[in-house]
Amino acid sequence: MEPPFTPADLAEIVRAVAALRAGALVGLPTETVYGLAADASNAEAVRRVFAAKGRPADHPLIVHLADPASLDAWAAEVPHAARALAEAYWPGPLTLVVRRASHVLDEVTGGLDTVALRVPAHPVALAVLRAFGGGLAAPSANRFGRVSPTTAQAVHDEMGEAVALVLDGGPCDVGVESTIVDMTVDPPVVLRPGGVSAEEIARTVGAALGEQSDTRAPGTLAAHYAPAVEVVVVTAQDAASSATARIALGQRVGLLAPGVIPGLPAGIEILDAAGDAQGYARVLYERFREAERQGLDVLLCVPPEAAGVGAAVIDRLRRAAFGSATERE
Ligand code: TXA
Ligand code: MG
Repeated sequence: MEPPFTPADLAEIVRAVAALRAGALVGLPTETVYGLAADASNAEAVRRVFAAKGRPADHPLIVHLADPASLDAWAAEVPHAARALAEAYWPGPLTLVVRRASHVLDEVTGGLDTVALRVPAHPVALAVLRAFGGGLAAPSANRFGRVSPTTAQAVHDEMGEAVALVLDGGPCDVGVESTIVDMTVDPPVVLRPGGVSAEEIARTVGAALGEQSDTRAPGTLAAHYAPAVEVVVVTAQDAASSATARIALGQRVGLLAPGVIPGLPAGIEILDAAGDAQGYARVLYERFREAERQGLDVLLCVPPEAAGVGAAVIDRLRRAAFGSATERE
């Protein structure tokens, strides 16, 4: 569904809001990836999210809000830089970690005294949030450690009966998760690269960002985002020889690259070229799923340029490669 909403779309949105009010889980399209939404003020509903995902309770959730003004209702204090970022990028693929207001549930934050907040830039998500009138805790709608869904079908495949309903807002526009910035430290620190680049954030804040320390964001495991296929990151120069060697070993080999790679061996499965960094981000998780469906042994990935959302794509490729390597050791 997309605006202008038909009466049938509106009826679906009303059903979703009723389900959320009753403490059920709803598959919610956002511009980044699909979320598994629950009433952030209902502890039982939030616990249901963790159960459905198979996610440990100490991995906190992002609370989604209808508008930037709600920031003050969920944060105990809003640093100047946080307000500037909210004004510049909300609605949009940016999550701000701030000190939490006292009403924010321990179930949402994993007991931390901070909370992650964002206003998504998707007409369906915003319609639901406005009609719902509160905050929606929503992790990506995948089973723990798996690839985030970027289509309604992928949410069904991941979550099955655990969701009351999935709103179909079409394929996600950004395709990788939001950028998470810790605003409780000065200067702010990017905890997870995403839809808004670190360069843009630094420009808006008007200062260099801090370095991420060893204590990484809870839940940002090195082995996250791993598909069931082995992912190997290769340069454009090495792609052909690497594919040839693996095919000689009898492996079924796929390739995901920003453009055309010359000299590829016969028998390689070339997944549709990903294009520039933005195009790459948009198709990345769906290509991982396609590689799984095709039963490939290995997916060779030539990364995009690191500028803009390319940094987030490279981050996810690295995690997927790490995850698939450790699983096979
Ligand atoms: O684009 C997105 O952010 C998607 C869509 C659905 O909005 N959501 C998403 O949620 O990626 P999830 O749960 O898969 O990842 C949220 C991450 C967690 O891994 C955790 O590291 C971080 O947000 N996080 C949440 N609360 C935090 C907090 N208080 N402090 C530090 N990190 C936090
Ligand atoms: Mg996730």
